[in-house]
Amino acid sequence: MQAKLTLHPAFQVGKVDPRLFGSFIEHLGRAVYHGIYEPDHPTADDQGFRRDVLELVRKLGVTVVRYPGGNFVSGYRWEDGTGDRAKRPRRADLAWGDIETNEIGIDEFQEWCKRAGAELMMAVNLGTRGPEEARQLVEYCNFPGGTELSDRRRANGLEDPFGIRLWCLGNEMDGEWQMGAKTAEEYGRIACEAAKLMKWTDPTIELVACGSSHYGMCGNWEETVLRHVYEHVDYISLHSYYGNPNDDTPEFLSCSLLMDEYIRTVCAIADYVKKIKNSNKTMYLSFDEWNVWFHSNGAKLPKWTVAPHRLEDVYTLEDALLVGCMLITLLRHCDRVKIACLAQLVNVIAPILTENVDEGGRAWAQTIFYPFLHASLYGRGTVLTPIVSCPTYSVRRYPEVPYVETVAVVSDDGSEMTVFAVNRSADEVIDFTVDLTACAKAPAVIEHLTMTHADKRAVNTADDPQNVCPDASGNAAIDGATLTAELAPYSWNVIRIKL
Ligand code: AHR
Repeated sequence: MQAKLTLHPAFQVGKVDPRLFGSFIEHLGRAVYHGIYEPDHPTADDQGFRRDVLELVRKLGVTVVRYPGGNFVSGYRWEDGTGDRAKRPRRADLAWGDIETNEIGIDEFQEWCKRAGAELMMAVNLGTRGPEEARQLVEYCNFPGGTELSDRRRANGLEDPFGIRLWCLGNEMDGEWQMGAKTAEEYGRIACEAAKLMKWTDPTIELVACGSSHYGMCGNWEETVLRHVYEHVDYISLHSYYGNPNDDTPEFLSCSLLMDEYIRTVCAIADYVKKIKNSNKTMYLSFDEWNVWFHSNGAKLPKWTVAPHRLEDVYTLEDALLVGCMLITLLRHCDRVKIACLAQLVNVIAPILTENVDEGGRAWAQTIFYPFLHASLYGRGTVLTPIVSCPTYSVRRYPEVPYVETVAVVSDDGSEMTVFAVNRSADEVIDFTVDLTACAKAPAVIEHLTMTHADKRAVNTADDPQNVCPDASGNAAIDGATLTAELAPYSWNVIRIKL
């Protein structure tokens, strides 16, 4: 099979917002406790944060981390996670059926973000609480001092305001599983009032309104909510998880086309509301939960325990291929999608897994770690419009799924271009050519990283953490202005070119 990508430097999708490489930490399972925080761990720092995990997070180049939920936030009292730790309450978290000790809260997590080199994206509870508590949290976090709440923060030993810029107005408020779920009208009103109070408290913040929980619920929800909040918020959220419960890999690997359709649909709805409002403001998208998630579904765990092994999906090669396709899809929409969060970051449906200290205390990178790493390292800059000609296959929903998913990003200084490509074929090597005629005089290949495995279900484990990982064995070469490369069956490819 043959596939061709044609590029021209003048044909650009747009500039990538670095916040496209975000992630998510929820108080859920072992994401916080035994994930990022384990004071007894040999690598624990002065605040009890695991340095082995911090190292992996920094390596990934995660730019922004959404916190503290997720479903958890819809019953959360943010005050529980502030001040004297000895006095913090243990509470039953109704979202996941776990006990929350509140040993970690905003006081500590803002410090973890600094150590991870990431921006904090804070979510407020619009489920069981409302605009006033949301406003109070902004005041606690961002007010310099001189009010009861900001002075409370200072008395807690945190003199400097946290300066949190990015705030989510609740989480998945359309879902019946959500504590305090709402109709679109109810949510639109409350989100609008919360947005006003929060921005009056700190006019520099940016706000994300809840879109639908998944594409199946998209449509009326976005339209109604946006009619209420259009002039008060900056982003509308999207969430998507895909799985392969029936072991239908061709169908599974086509799920990034659903993500693409979802993004295009939300843009269309947002632009429709823009017209109705006669507004000149463009609504941007925050894809603040996305991943593969299905391996752990149906696992039954006892209720009301602290930090159980919940939602710990072990990711395969084929999962990494879909994650690669989804990253390419996000890049191709970088003109509208400004924020995206791989959900989640540690242990819970995550690229990083850890053992508790009494299980051995190791931390390692799952298969999905690598496409994210590469996109985060080499996907910053300007995305060129991909003109792709490629054979296709058909699945139930889509008659034409391209065998190659691809995009190219030119670095900010113009010295490098990276082509990302996934081969969706199980057994065919694809002869891939990239026409660079318009791009550079004498381009040269820096390296062709590739990740594949003879077994599409291969995973990484604590004992074999490098079983599925990339190497520089790809054969990309340039002759004149044409790049040629063989894309191995079921492979993730990163071709770096010197311009
Ligand atoms: O990421 C896991 C859960 O998925 C989140 O808590 C929720 O927002 C979504 O349904």
